[in-house]
Amino acid sequence: MITASDFDVSAAWHVAAPYDFLRRLRHERPVFRSEHLGAYVITRHEDVRAAYGDPRRFSSEGSLTISRSLTEETRRVLGEHGSFLSSFVANVDPPAHTRLRRSVSRAFTPRAVAAMEGLFRDLNEELLDRVVPRGAGDFVAELAHVPSVKLTARFIGVPEADEAFVQKHVKDWFQLFLSPQPPDRQLVLADSFLTYLDYVDKLVAARAAEPRDDFVSLMTSLIGAELSHREVVELISTILLGGNDTVPNQLGNSVLRLLREEIWPVPPAMIQNAVEECMRIDGASLGSFRHTRTDVEMHGVTIPAGSLCLLSTDSAAHDETVFAEPERFRIDRGNADAHMTLGYGIHFCVGAALARLQLRTALEVLGRRLPGLRPAPGRPVAYRTSIVGRGLTALHVEW
Ligand code: HEM
Repeated sequence: MITASDFDVSAAWHVAAPYDFLRRLRHERPVFRSEHLGAYVITRHEDVRAAYGDPRRFSSEGSLTISRSLTEETRRVLGEHGSFLSSFVANVDPPAHTRLRRSVSRAFTPRAVAAMEGLFRDLNEELLDRVVPRGAGDFVAELAHVPSVKLTARFIGVPEADEAFVQKHVKDWFQLFLSPQPPDRQLVLADSFLTYLDYVDKLVAARAAEPRDDFVSLMTSLIGAELSHREVVELISTILLGGNDTVPNQLGNSVLRLLREEIWPVPPAMIQNAVEECMRIDGASLGSFRHTRTDVEMHGVTIPAGSLCLLSTDSAAHDETVFAEPERFRIDRGNADAHMTLGYGIHFCVGAALARLQLRTALEVLGRRLPGLRPAPGRPVAYRTSIVGRGLTALHVEW
């Protein structure tokens, strides 16, 4: 029997091994009201896809922000910024979304993305030059993050000297807006967030005065014509987050999976499909939130208008009606890319090509430079506690 309290998003298994539970949900209660999450959870592949494809009924407005958990005092400190992200591209519906998406897509043309490959490869090689002689380490802390963080900073236009500063503040605001925090901690984070906004404002001003070939300059050039100043600041801040965290999480999940399956190094011809199968079976994103605009009938359940819904892409990626033997990792799976770990529909991840390029390049360089990579014996793996993401806290390895 499945009860509402089963979907405990704070439990370790929720991120590490939810698949038995999700399978039972798909079979027995494909639309499930979770008291714990305060949301309806949609678990079948076809339903998740249909909801993503129906932004009129499943709205993205406000879906990224759980800022309602902020205290009055924190709100006062944040002032007008309390509703930050209210105009971020992933957090709005058409027509605003159509306009913002058009602007942001200008930076992610196939040519611009392909131009990142050489730089990303070099960043990985340089890092490995330093790390290889050590013979062992924590893959998450020492290998997964650095190249993606540096690549994102270059893409955006953050000077190298400011990278550490930006990373610290991005982490703080992520905590403030996307995970509930005790009141004292909220104030510390709010302060850090305001410092960060100030920094991004100054970066925008600097590029307005002296444009370069980077994301900040491109977006700044659209202020007044297509975008407002606030929209540009929100885009820059949130893309820094997208690039800083999701790809390294996906890389950590992928390397752990490949080592456990003893597919290492991955044969170069198989890397592209391996990346998709890893995203399917151990996705770094667990799903997306939406609000219903009208009452929605699904499998005999009425989701009332105004309800929060979690479209569980994690469950959809393990749906046996789409993926045969879903719990088996199959490097040659024909439809591995039918997962929705990068979303689906109008909000499909705008950084998808850049994410895939990084994952492919990292697996290729790591496989060549660390062919003997293996998990360090006796070191259990642990995942971060998160409602929306899957990422390891550490992965101890030897090579
Ligand atoms: C493996 C890495 C990544 C994963 C798993 C991921 C996942 C996702 C998902 C699930 C969505 C859809 C959100 C929704 O429908 O509510 C999304 C949207 C988005 N992603 Fe990613 N992402 C990744 C990498 C990136 C990168 C590298 C960037 C930018 C540098 C990025 C920027 C964005 C943006 C701006 C959106 C919003 C698009 C829109 O609303 O139209 N992502 N991502």
